[in-house]
Amino acid sequence: MTSLQTASSDRFPAGSAAFPHKHLLGIAGMQPWEIAFVLQEAEQWVALNRSGAAKHDDRLRGLTIINAFFENSTRTLLSFEIAGKRLGADVVNMHAAQSSTKKGETLIDTAMTLNAMRADAIVIRHNSSGAVNLISEKVDCPVLNAGDGTHEHPTQALLDALTIKRRKGRVDGLIVTICGDILHSRVARSNMLCLTALGAQVRVVAPPALMPVGVDLFGVQPFHHFDEALHGSDVVMMLRLQNERMQGDFIPSPREFFHLYGLDARRLALAKPDALVMHPGPMNRGVEIASHIADDLERSAITEQVEMGVAVRMACLDILTRKARGVEGWA
Ligand code: NCD
Repeated sequence: MTSLQTASSDRFPAGSAAFPHKHLLGIAGMQPWEIAFVLQEAEQWVALNRSGAAKHDDRLRGLTIINAFFENSTRTLLSFEIAGKRLGADVVNMHAAQSSTKKGETLIDTAMTLNAMRADAIVIRHNSSGAVNLISEKVDCPVLNAGDGTHEHPTQALLDALTIKRRKGRVDGLIVTICGDILHSRVARSNMLCLTALGAQVRVVAPPALMPVGVDLFGVQPFHHFDEALHGSDVVMMLRLQNERMQGDFIPSPREFFHLYGLDARRLALAKPDALVMHPGPMNRGVEIASHIADDLERSAITEQVEMGVAVRMACLDILTRKARGVEGWA
């Protein structure tokens, strides 16, 4: 029996005990059954989103959600907006480029301003690790981390786990290889925590300069040779070089990087014959992944990851606003 099955609905603690957190700040601190609970809750939203007809549920009607994004985003911002709207909430987006932070306002003053507007949930992306935790201490409503610096990106890890679970039937016991800029990637960090909590065997691959010191403390196996790590892999997750977080040169050239760490057909053939290819986006084609691999719908789950992103974010918004909505059991 897999860890996800062990935590099936009848084994979750009841009501709010299934998710005893006010905020969603990171995967760190979440129990495996809490992760499994979010994934299970997301299934209904996958079904609704695929239903074709009116993809709408009104449970968040009258609630206001603020998406405060201090860093660029396409997928995460849009999917949080769509998620809130599909649940009937009023969703407002704040883009940092147009906000007062550009006029020297401190993060705490911005947090107090958002709080005074009496939002029912605030979704935050920020380029400083820890900024989202700080804001969560200053506001009254639930805060969801949409990515903070190199720290965590919990909804990305949850949507990745949901994608793997649906495509492979389980997460427990799978070999998942994450390759790329592990050092600067909050996606890698949240996925290492999430996938190991669900019982996967996680391998991380990066050039020495892009591998965090002590990464093995996450319970993952570090590799510097991609070919070696690929043997027996069930899932291959590719990550972008986070150039915006690098000071100086970490790699000789994008061409050299692709040669050593890029995923192409020859390399993919080293993994299991049915290995799944994933990428959180945005992709840099020809740098970490060859176009023909990214576009191979049989092997690549990249668009499915985006789809699961909406469902997982609907689940998170629903779960975290249950107390405020007086849903029974959410003390
Ligand atoms: C990632 C992010 O912003 O951390 N993208 C995403 O949310 N889909 C990864 C990245 O920017 O490379």
